[in-house]
Amino acid sequence: MTDSIRFLMCSPDHYDVDYVINPWMEGNIHKSSRDRSVEQWQKLYHTLKDHAIVELVKPQKGWPDMVFTANAGLVLDKTVVLSRFFHKERQGEEPHFKEWFESQGFTVHELPKDLPFEGAGDALFDREGRYLWAGYGFRSELDSHPLLAEWLNIEVLSLRLMDERFYHLDTCFCPLSGGYLLYYPPAFDSYSNHLIEMRVPPEKRIAIEEPDAVNFACNAVNINETVVMNKVSDNLKARLSEAGFNVIETPLSEFLKAGGAAKCLTLRVTEPIIPDRHATVQIESRTVRMEGHLLDAGLINQALDLIVEGGGSFKVQQFNLGEQRQSTSSALIKITAPSHQVMEDIISQLIDIGAVSLEEDLRDAKLEPVNQAGVSPDDFYVTTIYPTEIRVNGEWIRVQNQRMDGAIAVTETSEGIVAKCKLLRDLEVGEKVVVDVVGIRTIRKTESREQRNAPQEFGFMSAGVSSERRVELIVEQVAWELRQIRDRGGKVVVTAGPVVIHTGGAEHLSRLIREGYVQALLGGNAIAVHDIEQAMMGTSLGVDMKQGTAVKGGHRHHLKVINAIRRCGSIANAVEKGLFNSGVMYECVKNHVPFSLAGSIRDDGPLPDTQMDLIKAQQHYTELLQGAEMILMLSTMLHSIGVGNMTAAGVKMVCVDINPAVVTKLSDRGSVESVGVVTDVGLFLSLLVKQLDKLTSRYHLEV
Ligand code: ARG
Repeated sequence: MTDSIRFLMCSPDHYDVDYVINPWMEGNIHKSSRDRSVEQWQKLYHTLKDHAIVELVKPQKGWPDMVFTANAGLVLDKTVVLSRFFHKERQGEEPHFKEWFESQGFTVHELPKDLPFEGAGDALFDREGRYLWAGYGFRSELDSHPLLAEWLNIEVLSLRLMDERFYHLDTCFCPLSGGYLLYYPPAFDSYSNHLIEMRVPPEKRIAIEEPDAVNFACNAVNINETVVMNKVSDNLKARLSEAGFNVIETPLSEFLKAGGAAKCLTLRVTEPIIPDRHATVQIESRTVRMEGHLLDAGLINQALDLIVEGGGSFKVQQFNLGEQRQSTSSALIKITAPSHQVMEDIISQLIDIGAVSLEEDLRDAKLEPVNQAGVSPDDFYVTTIYPTEIRVNGEWIRVQNQRMDGAIAVTETSEGIVAKCKLLRDLEVGEKVVVDVVGIRTIRKTESREQRNAPQEFGFMSAGVSSERRVELIVEQVAWELRQIRDRGGKVVVTAGPVVIHTGGAEHLSRLIREGYVQALLGGNAIAVHDIEQAMMGTSLGVDMKQGTAVKGGHRHHLKVINAIRRCGSIANAVEKGLFNSGVMYECVKNHVPFSLAGSIRDDGPLPDTQMDLIKAQQHYTELLQGAEMILMLSTMLHSIGVGNMTAAGVKMVCVDINPAVVTKLSDRGSVESVGVVTDVGLFLSLLVKQLDKLTSRYHLEV
């Protein structure tokens, strides 16, 4: 027996499953057997007494989970951090444990009331005493970790729990003597797994499988070479004995019904201090402010979700609710993340939804030089479609050429500092790029409540996918906008796929072009080929557009068309020569509407006009998109998403596709301006043309 090792247990006099605060308790209320639980507990108690000293704390009526002394607190030497239970069902245990610790001469640290931390259930020392592994995600708050580091003067490594069944760290993680680690990797997020792999060498990691995990094999009590647990598979037992451990199984099925086993039922109260360890903690905190219709627009939920999903935790420090319908709310959110990397990922997403750093947290944007053309320094800030500003020398400057998925390049010119969104490939040596996530903010327009809540009105409402019933409504809005834009000499760009032709939309799109509603056309080789095929031969990919049936040998039509155009050198030349006299491409040429055809690997031909150099094609697209007020995206995922990425927020986008996935992808830009329509594009265009006719026809007054 090792005299120096002591445990605290609590006999199960009042133990029962009385409520449900973890998935194991579900369906088990009052299902644990009194006699059997006493018997199982006794057996564990005696087993441990063979190896260590076991102290007892007096069980308390009304606190059935008090048997799980692992959750009393976290002990190091003569110091204890008392638990702050997450669930009120267990909060009444706190004073009883506190009393016991004080009676034993421990210095007791108490966390603030609203900062949950569940003791040794969520914090485990590496058995070599080098650092403390601390879990968060379900019962303990990440914000408690810096206090543990401070009070216990030890390095804290935060691990994020992902699987509800393993809600406490000690249910899926068990450091063993000799530097070994018994654990269930899927219970953790990838960042945590990475951290574990960095700290524990492969030969010391004993990763277990689900069957052992659900038998609580990780919930083991380790005393030197002895490991005591509920149940173990032969395979795991063999692996443990190979590592020099002797496994003792002792059934604890009655306690599993409450979500605990051997380790939960004990608290090691002798944890010696190892001299050269000292407090370090990688945890970072930052506070941001958000403003807008935080509740109505779901912004606050979105922010908190992405903090938690990103592996951080938060505290809402202030929340001022807007008093009137039109007034905005504001919130101060303190974010805590287990490392700088995680913080950066979270903050960059928060910036995207308009969060700004607090004044006292304000710093200039971090800039790093481009050392190789077309390559950014690592860690560059990736841009979004939203208007963005960066802080340089204490001043906010607006980023130009806003687009998605670029880097912000900063140069000093005679007119001062200029910041521009640039694609990686366009970065030049001598420029500087914004890295990290400080000194950056995006400006999000606050939508009015009306915009969000009244889809009957004109204007582009809540981003979203429409149901069939809403198609007509949207057609009305689009027609209205098209007319307005045309009448004021604005710019509308259309991206269109070949489906427009197959579904009989060519005549309608042709009309839109002819009547001045379209100022540029973007697409690929296919739309032009099929459109010209239809104009020249009456078929689209060999299908007779009037009969709807395949024409014999028709599948070769499109190649003949390509050949004919190639002979002329360009579509425009072919039109001039009178090869065809209708269709989308014909109208573009005749009405001087510029078009850009971007090539792809599957293109036949291609047409002489198709740009097979994709970088040039992208540039041409960008040029044609300059100044666009509205983009109609007609059944082409490829070109529409490409265009979406090139376009800053504020441009109205209407995406029409029969495939809801495409539509969702584009309306996910999360801006009011994009609207998705799931419908047949030919049908959509015919409705649109009809509606425009209505809007523009003159009234004939009968005299
Ligand atoms: N029913 C208890 C709870 O949900 C079980 C605690 C198990 N303790 C542990 N250290 N894992 O809180």
